[in-house]
Amino acid sequence: MWQENRFVAFGSDVSPQPAHRATLNREHYSGRATMQKEFDTVWTKAWLIAGIERDLEEPGDFITFDIAQESILITRTEEGGLSAVYNVCQHRGNRLHIETSGSVARRHTCPYHGWSYALDGSLLHVPDRERFSKGVDCAARSLKPVNVGARNGLVWINLAVNPLPLDDFLGSLVGELTPYRLEEMHVVREQTCELDANWKTVIDNFAEVYHVDFIHSQHASFVNCRDARVDLFPYGHTVFRVDGYVVNPRYPVPDEPPPILSGALEALGLDPRDFHGRVNDIRRAAQARKRELGRRVGFDYSALTDDQVSDIWQYNLFPNVIMTVKPEEVWIMRPRPHPTDPQKCFFDKITLAMPIRQSGDDTSLVLIGDPEAAKAMQSGRRPEREVFMQADVTSGSVSMTETVDQDIFYLPYMQAGMNSAGFDTAVLSDDENRIRHFHDWLSTWMADRVPRP
Ligand code: FES
Ligand SMILES: [Fe+2]
Repeated sequence: MWQENRFVAFGSDVSPQPAHRATLNREHYSGRATMQKEFDTVWTKAWLIAGIERDLEEPGDFITFDIAQESILITRTEEGGLSAVYNVCQHRGNRLHIETSGSVARRHTCPYHGWSYALDGSLLHVPDRERFSKGVDCAARSLKPVNVGARNGLVWINLAVNPLPLDDFLGSLVGELTPYRLEEMHVVREQTCELDANWKTVIDNFAEVYHVDFIHSQHASFVNCRDARVDLFPYGHTVFRVDGYVVNPRYPVPDEPPPILSGALEALGLDPRDFHGRVNDIRRAAQARKRELGRRVGFDYSALTDDQVSDIWQYNLFPNVIMTVKPEEVWIMRPRPHPTDPQKCFFDKITLAMPIRQSGDDTSLVLIGDPEAAKAMQSGRRPEREVFMQADVTSGSVSMTETVDQDIFYLPYMQAGMNSAGFDTAVLSDDENRIRHFHDWLSTWMADRVPRP
């Protein structure tokens, strides 16, 4: 069996098949004309994940989200709703906030001349107002609004005047993600790496597992990437379902569990020696054991299928979010375009983890894969965003996990190669269908041919 690809509609009459076919050439990955067209037709038209709703719990809590040359300010209002506005003061255009998150008492105040705005963006106060002899029209000088919505604990924004409704854009994906209860998870790590690669080069990397045997050899002993199930949805979204707690079926099944699986068994309190000659039974055993441990330490697996308990499902949400979902931990990876250079992007990785409800019980921690994340969870403190360069990752001074570090090493070389006169177009296998689906939908957006239900 190899990777299965299928088109899946959202129940509306919007076809999951894109209307356009992309050409994956140098201009597509490096061109300034393409970069501008993406801004006009994608970044200002599609719904974008701007942040995590948990960062906006109380009135006055805010986050900023920078996308291409724009910066958006999202705030929890006094009434309990969300407001999103351009992060641009209406006096002379200064950024209201340069921090990525924070909290204000009742108003946003521009640091430059002190204009202040209510949490919903309306202009409240102009210092020395009488010196504006022609007057200041408060309604006209309020912050410019942006569409905003929250689903599954995530905050989306949309810069379009009349966007496709968020629920139509996400279709059945909201329901698919609901059992994971992202809204109960906490941010336990947030990292941003400045990369010498176009944002789409990053998307492509995380859309296929053809490269896994070559640059992530460690994966052969704990996941089955070869036989993944792929669903291709409308608007350019995809999902990839990969079995966990298994060995790579390309190779003979070993008698003993390989070291990574042995470690995973021990972490669950199971004895690897019990699986001598039974390596293919580990996945089922891990599912049962996780449910048992979950009941003990307050992890609720009841809404999840056995496959969801053990496996890794990766949702790529058009245009720029790669979400790796496990019941205990979710990674939101998000390449954002650089404001001026198509050869660069900002690559964010936000790690969410389900809270541990029973303190002092060591077995509860084993359900969280990343020890750093487990530490942050125990501290109860929301970590600051760490910002660094690609060279910091390749030199080993920062890590975004072993697997992602391996990807990051290659991304600038992919970018440089695709920007060379020696590159014509990419050719894709059936196991790279998610790349094809993404780019064909991207072209459909760029041609302004996105259907509405
Ligand atoms: S630019 Fe903001 S108060 Fe002047
Ligand atoms: Fe990879």
